[in-house]
Amino acid sequence: MTGKIFYKLIGAVLCLLLVALAAVDYLATRVVESTYQETLERELSDKGAMLALGLAQGLNLRDGNIVGAFAGKTRSRLTLIARDGRVLSDSGASTGQMVNHRERPEIDAALAGRVGSARRKSSTLGVDFLYVAVPVADGALRLAVPLAEIQGQVDAIRRRMLAATALAFLPAILIALWFARVIARRLGAIIDYAAQLARGNFHARLKRTGTDELGLLEIKLSETGEKLEGMFQELEREHAELEKVERVRKDFVINVSHELRTPLASIQGYTETLLDGALDDPNHNVCFLQIIRQNTERLANLTADLLTLSRVELKQLKFSFASYNVDRLLEDMVESMSPLAFRKNIKLTRVESGGLVEAFCDSEAVNQVLSNLVDNALKYTPAGGEITVGTRILSGLPTIEVFVRDTGIGIPADELPRLFERFYRVDKARSRELGGTGLGLSIVKHLVRAQGGDVRVESVLGKGSTFIFTLPVEDLGMSEDSDIRTQLTNS
Ligand SMILES: Nc1ncnc2c1ncn2[C@@H]1O[C@H](COP(=O)(O)OP(=O)(O)O)[C@@H](O)[C@H]1O
Ligand SMILES: [Mg+2]
Repeated sequence: MTGKIFYKLIGAVLCLLLVALAAVDYLATRVVESTYQETLERELSDKGAMLALGLAQGLNLRDGNIVGAFAGKTRSRLTLIARDGRVLSDSGASTGQMVNHRERPEIDAALAGRVGSARRKSSTLGVDFLYVAVPVADGALRLAVPLAEIQGQVDAIRRRMLAATALAFLPAILIALWFARVIARRLGAIIDYAAQLARGNFHARLKRTGTDELGLLEIKLSETGEKLEGMFQELEREHAELEKVERVRKDFVINVSHELRTPLASIQGYTETLLDGALDDPNHNVCFLQIIRQNTERLANLTADLLTLSRVELKQLKFSFASYNVDRLLEDMVESMSPLAFRKNIKLTRVESGGLVEAFCDSEAVNQVLSNLVDNALKYTPAGGEITVGTRILSGLPTIEVFVRDTGIGIPADELPRLFERFYRVDKARSRELGGTGLGLSIVKHLVRAQGGDVRVESVLGKGSTFIFTLPVEDLGMSEDSDIRTQLTNS
């Protein structure tokens, strides 16, 4: 990209070079002019001295032809002046036209025995001359060259010098061009990148092209871009999470309303039927009242489960953590559930773990977990089936495992991942029929996690399922955690 900055840089360099060129020209012209004149003056005085020698040897410069010939050879105008200032001969003009030269400064100096020089316009020829006069036997001999000729020489030297200087500047111009191009390109890339950021394209990357200030700008800008990208991703993630939470909340509200509506509608319907006369119908009244009771139980179960779930989710449940012998807890639970198992003709047994298995937990919470799991096992295991509970020590790990195994209907593999979600049921109708709320496993998950453990399920369809949850052996600080939470929620 070649933009304004390119032309500005180049313009600045060219201006600088022009100023330098003008300065060189001005100074060089002055030096060349004065040097050339000095050289010329010396040359003319040397030639004058030679001619003076010739005059002394009898050279007749009064003769117009001879003076003309010598003027040609010395490439100057020759004038011979007598002591009194009369012009005796001149190679450029006829002596008759010429005034007395006694007062001319160069003549004055020559008549005084020195070499004299002057620069002025010739009154005879009307042209600027450089005059040099040397003393001769009877007066002075003057040699003159037109200043225009000197100027011509100086101009030629000047032109050559200017050409040489300009040539010397050529690499500087090329370097400046290259430099301006590189800078313009790098700036172009930076501007492009900034534009991408402005457009919200945070995936764009800026290549680092140097270690100078522009390189530093590239680094800082890249860092800004990366930070923006990170922040944007974080925002997107949070947004997605919020959306998910909102979806879950909506689903939950819909589910709760739905779960409430069915038993309520049933209660309402049967109550109205009874009031409309069925109360006196001995064939149906008891049956209708039983249905009403069944639905009331369902509502009671649902509200109880919802309350537990919201308490544990909002961390309002106060746990009393302590070290418990988990086998003892299992034994108590088996004892209390045995009559129900017996009624259903299901064998409920506890396997011995062969040692002391202790866990740091809340006994009530563990009881609730166990009763939910055993209740499920009893519900989804046909008569004649078997339920086994037990514990396992995990060697090398600070946790123990508790399992509830049944030989029931099992769960399809594709249902397993969502099994612990609220209201998730493999067979909705069957669950409802059995008085289930679909919240039991969700409560299990939350209670186990609140104690620092986790829960999982293994199942083979038609063969049975095993629910396994873990509990920490030692205090993981969950107790303090929950105390703080309780304090906070109570305040
Ligand atoms: N032991 C089990 N054997 C087979 N399916 C089970 C078992 N435990 C739970 N499930 C399935 O998981 C679903 C969710 O269980 P849960 O949350 O306790 O709800 P509910 O028991 O009220 O239906 C049940 O509806 C059932 O489909
Ligand atoms: Mg259940």
